[in-house]
Amino acid sequence: MRQSIRRRRSVRGDDLVTFISHTAAASGAELATVRLATALEAKGVATSVLFTDTGPMVEELHRRAIPVNVVSGPFDSSRVRIGGSVTALPIGVWHMVHTGWTLGGFAKQSGSTILVAESTKALLMGTIAARRARLPLIWHVHDRISSEYFGTALASIIRVLGWVVSAGYIANSTSTLKSLLTSRKRAVVAYPGIEPVVVPSREPRPPAEVEIAMVGRLERWKGQDLLLRALAVSAFRPSVTFVGGAHFGEDFGTELTELARELGLQDRVTFAGHVSDPTSILADADIAVHCSRTTEPFGQVIVEAMAAGCAVIAANSGGPLEIVSDGVDGLLVDPTDTTSFAAALDSLIEDSDRRSEMAERARATSTRFTIEETAAIVAQFLGVADRDGVGGRGRG
Ligand code: GLC
Repeated sequence: MRQSIRRRRSVRGDDLVTFISHTAAASGAELATVRLATALEAKGVATSVLFTDTGPMVEELHRRAIPVNVVSGPFDSSRVRIGGSVTALPIGVWHMVHTGWTLGGFAKQSGSTILVAESTKALLMGTIAARRARLPLIWHVHDRISSEYFGTALASIIRVLGWVVSAGYIANSTSTLKSLLTSRKRAVVAYPGIEPVVVPSREPRPPAEVEIAMVGRLERWKGQDLLLRALAVSAFRPSVTFVGGAHFGEDFGTELTELARELGLQDRVTFAGHVSDPTSILADADIAVHCSRTTEPFGQVIVEAMAAGCAVIAANSGGPLEIVSDGVDGLLVDPTDTTSFAAALDSLIEDSDRRSEMAERARATSTRFTIEETAAIVAQFLGVADRDGVGGRGRG
């Protein structure tokens, strides 16, 4: 996996932005990183990506001709879990320090000028890497650093640590930014934009034939079970396709299959597993649902669904509030309230005109979230030169 280390340079200036990620799994933050690196490269900003574990994103970066290396630590990084047992802590810390040191050596030799940590684990390893390579470390925050995710104590530790070790923050939403300690630090919100898709408009299906899609890893916090429960009390019988694999060791898929059977929904629920490009499934769906039970930091899948011409229903907290205007280009619901969730679903299912008007407005909204715009904001923030002469060291 390990490639030779090449020194690279931007079109203008000497910058090389190196992204560090602890996983190359096909999940939201990593997809966003791949898209961002690609868009920065297209602007003439040299980038590279260092993963500390292998996965499908490595191949994807190869395909896009973005330099990528897998820098493995002393053992499988999936064994190091933030918030894991107390005994695992010293081993985890040692592993991260060791890997961080190796990452620093890599970054230095390849001529990196800025390190960008793409996760909390990457931030810990990036801290050591940045010290070794004597480079600034920016934290690109994809998670809300809140007690909901990490517990109160750990969330506070991560917040303080982030403040101490990072030179600045790029947050994927205002909601994420607000969960950080940013006093006297540079910080910017850069919504994760999507790459353009061409999906022709379609006739809305009649209520009895409506198709629903939900894209997201099969993890409890993503709330697929909440959709199943709402469907069980819905006045209609739509078909549902769940797109997404189980990641990071959680076997929520089995639980969901059992729940679908228990609720008598098995004939109209499909678990498609991980699909590398869900566009065609979204392009065929009438409604896309997002129903995370924990506050979603941003919610790229919502924008993808809007761009694919779906009417969307999303959870009414965090990132989705920054994407969807309730009742205009989608509906916002509390997915833990089964009755109101089902009522929102039914209101879209039964009225095909409203559904298709919302879908058209959603399509227009999605054009506000382009990866080019994300890259422009990030380039400006990092102060890296691009082909248009925007940015540049010291000017950002
Ligand atoms: C993470 C977040 C998700 C966001 C993505 C890209 O996966 O959970 O909300 O869309 O990162 O920033």
